[in-house]
Amino acid sequence: MSLLEIEGLEVTFGQGEGRVAAVRGASFSVARGETHCIVGESGCGKSVTSLAIMGLLARGATRQAKRMEFDGRDISRLTEREMSRLRGHRIAMIFQEPMTSLNPAYTIGSQMAEVRTRHLGGTKQAALDRAAELLGRVGITAPGMRLGQFPHQLSGGLRQRVMIAMALMNDPELLIADEPTTALDVTIQAQILRLLAQLQAELGLGLLLITHDLGVVARVAHRVSVMYAGEVVENAATADLFAAPRHPYTRGLLECLPIPGKVAPGAPLGSIPGMVPKLTPGFTGCGFRSRCSLARAECAAPVALRGAPHLYRCVVDA
Ligand SMILES: Nc1ncnc2c1ncn2[C@@H]1O[C@H](COP(=O)(O)OP(=O)(O)OP(=O)(O)O)[C@@H](O)[C@H]1O
Ligand code: SF4
Ligand SMILES: [Mg+2]
Repeated sequence: MSLLEIEGLEVTFGQGEGRVAAVRGASFSVARGETHCIVGESGCGKSVTSLAIMGLLARGATRQAKRMEFDGRDISRLTEREMSRLRGHRIAMIFQEPMTSLNPAYTIGSQMAEVRTRHLGGTKQAALDRAAELLGRVGITAPGMRLGQFPHQLSGGLRQRVMIAMALMNDPELLIADEPTTALDVTIQAQILRLLAQLQAELGLGLLLITHDLGVVARVAHRVSVMYAGEVVENAATADLFAAPRHPYTRGLLECLPIPGKVAPGAPLGSIPGMVPKLTPGFTGCGFRSRCSLARAECAAPVALRGAPHLYRCVVDA
């Protein structure tokens, strides 16, 4: 049984004419001890998918799913109180920009300790000891001193390490990380990703990692879901996806990757012409059809995922 099972997730924003179908029937799962990456271009619904799982969608959003289970338990019907008990304890999340998640008015130590005592009780001192241990574990030297500092006294890379340590305070089983490194310098990005991959393996976490960077996917993911226009258009083991991508959008994405030896230095990268369609709720069919050279009439009707275990959502045989 998977740790997280999502089937047919739909999220819409707004009312009437202005409604936007941000996620359209997304399905994927994350096993214990697995790193699952969701990849796709800006606006395709990656963050909305993760917020929908966490029960953290903005007001006015509507969420529906055929199945939404964590460790065999239906989480679609949990009350806000039950969901908040699950969040930060068994499921934790790391966001792209740590400053939006850290409170500038409190020290690192008191914020980390609060996460522990609120969910698991215990003394503040025990929680601070745990915080210091985790800061050490994520590679922060002099953790005792750092606990007394405020977020603005730390560099971006250190703040993101603190966020990772904070997410681990209550030994979560599932960690959702939404573009956790895009706000950082390239060398720091690599360090943070290495750290996440190492912790995932050591702790046997299920890691749902959201990124738009296929290089990151190649390095850390066991399995990948490619999203396009609110749908999962391909879902496969990482090696299979890179070796033989089945969906035309995934193929286009991979062709945009610079490959040393194949792409001459300085040569322009490939790009996929066209734009993502406007996802009004009446929109059906393949979201990629306005950009796809293989598009045909049947692409305007809903297209099912097929080809298990290397799933793809396309009417043309791969
Ligand atoms: N609160 C909101 N109200 C209305 N529309 C929203 C809201 N949040 C997201 N959307 C829309 O939902 C769609 C998916 O957004 P989402 O943030 O999930 O994209 P993303 O894949 O995470 O992109 P990025 O790579 O830029 O982070 C977008 O069209 C966005 O405009
Ligand atoms: S379903 Fe049609 S439009 Fe969509 S990717 Fe396949 S061929 Fe292209
Ligand atoms: Mg996002």
